[in-house]
Amino acid sequence: MSASLDVRDLRKQFAAGRPAVDGVSFHVPAGEIVVLLGPSGCGKTTTLRCIAGLEHPTAGRVSIGGRLMSAPLDGVQVPPRLRNIGMVFQSYAVWPHMTVRQNVAYPLRHRREPRVEIERKTGDVLELVGLTEFAERPVVSLSGGQMQRVALARSLVYQPQLLLLDEPLSNLDAQLRLRLRDDLRRIIKQTGVTALYVTHDQAEAVVLGDRIGVMRDGKLLQMAPADEIYNRPADLFVANFTGASNLLAGRVLARNDEFGTVEAGGQRLTALMPANVKTGEAVKIAVRPENVRLGKDGTVEPDNRFTARIAGRRYQGTQTIYELAMLGGRLEALELGTQARYVIGSEVDVVLPPALCWAYPASEDARLD
Ligand SMILES: Nc1ncnc2c1ncn2[C@@H]1O[C@H](COP(=O)(O)OP(=O)(O)O)[C@@H](O)[C@H]1O
Ligand SMILES: [Mg+2]
Repeated sequence: MSASLDVRDLRKQFAAGRPAVDGVSFHVPAGEIVVLLGPSGCGKTTTLRCIAGLEHPTAGRVSIGGRLMSAPLDGVQVPPRLRNIGMVFQSYAVWPHMTVRQNVAYPLRHRREPRVEIERKTGDVLELVGLTEFAERPVVSLSGGQMQRVALARSLVYQPQLLLLDEPLSNLDAQLRLRLRDDLRRIIKQTGVTALYVTHDQAEAVVLGDRIGVMRDGKLLQMAPADEIYNRPADLFVANFTGASNLLAGRVLARNDEFGTVEAGGQRLTALMPANVKTGEAVKIAVRPENVRLGKDGTVEPDNRFTARIAGRRYQGTQTIYELAMLGGRLEALELGTQARYVIGSEVDVVLPPALCWAYPASEDARLD
C-alpha cells in the first residue's frame, strides 16, 4: 500500500556551521511523485537519507503513512528496514554474481515469501520495467540503463509504501537518460507508489514530478506543480535556477496588486512582483529567453512593447539566440525554427509579456551563485 509522507521542520547538522538540511517541511499525499530539485550540496541526499532512516536528523519529524518514523527530540528513530521503503541510487546497486531475475527476487527471498509468490511478483515487476526477455541474463551483461531498471524492479518488487530515488539517471549517457526518464514516470505511476525523487536536472524534475520542490542551502524555497515553478517562481534563485537567465536592473515606481511598474533604462515596464517588493525598491527583473517575443507576431499585449537593437546572434540550427540591447541592459531572446529572421545591427519590436517578467529585490541577486 502506498503511503503519504510528511516532513516537518527537518534539520540535519553534521558539524559546526550551516546545517545540511535547515528547516524543511513538506507533505506528499499517497501516490504522488515529488521531485526535490537543487544544485549540488543543497541538501537533497541528506533529506532523502533522513526519510529513509539512514541518517539521524538533528531535529524535526518524519512520518510515513501517518506513523512517526523519526522525531529525535522525542527519542523516536525507526530503523530503515522497518520503514518499508524502496530506494534507487545513482550507482547501480545490483548483485553482480546474480542473474536479472535472481537480483529482482532477492528481497522476496530475504523476506521468506512463498515460492509461487516470488515467481509471480518477480515476473510482474520484470514486465513492468521491460526486462522480461533479459530475466535469465547475468546482470553484469546489461547496459547501464538496464541495470538501473533492475535496481528499480528490485526496489518495487516487495511493494514498498514509499519509493526514494537519488539521481538514478545521472550515470547514464544522454540518450539512455532520456528514455529511462520518460519510462520512470509511467512505471512509478503504474505501481501507484508514493515517490520522492532527487535531482539537479530541471528537465528531469519537470518530466517526472507531480510537484517540484526547489532547494538551496538546506532550505526548501518553493514546492509547487512544474508550471507554477516555471510561471510564478517564488524568488530570484528559483527563477534563475529554472532558466530565467535574463536579469535587468530597475526600480519600482508603483505597485498595483500583484503587478507593479518598474523603471529600467529610462523606460517603464510592468512586471509581476512578490508581496515583499516595495515601491521605490531596487529590483532585478528576471525574464526567460523563451518568453521574449520578437516581431509583430499578432500579439495583442498592450503593455511592455519596446524596440531593441540586435547586438548579437548565435545560430544553433534549430533555434537562434539573439542578444538584444534594450531597457539599459542586455536580454537574450530565443527564436525557434531553422531560419534566423533578424540580422545583427537591425532594430526589432519586442514584447515582454508582463506576467512573464518577475521583479525581485535586487539584494537577492548578490546571493546567486
Ligand atoms: N556524512 C556527512 N558528513 C559531513 N557533511 C556532510 C555529510 N553528508 C553531506 N554533508 C554535507 O551536507 C551538505 C548537503 O549535502 P547533500 O545532502 O549530499 O547535498 P546534495 O545531495 O543536494 O548534493 C553538503 O555541504 C555536504 O558536504
Ligand atoms: Mg546528492
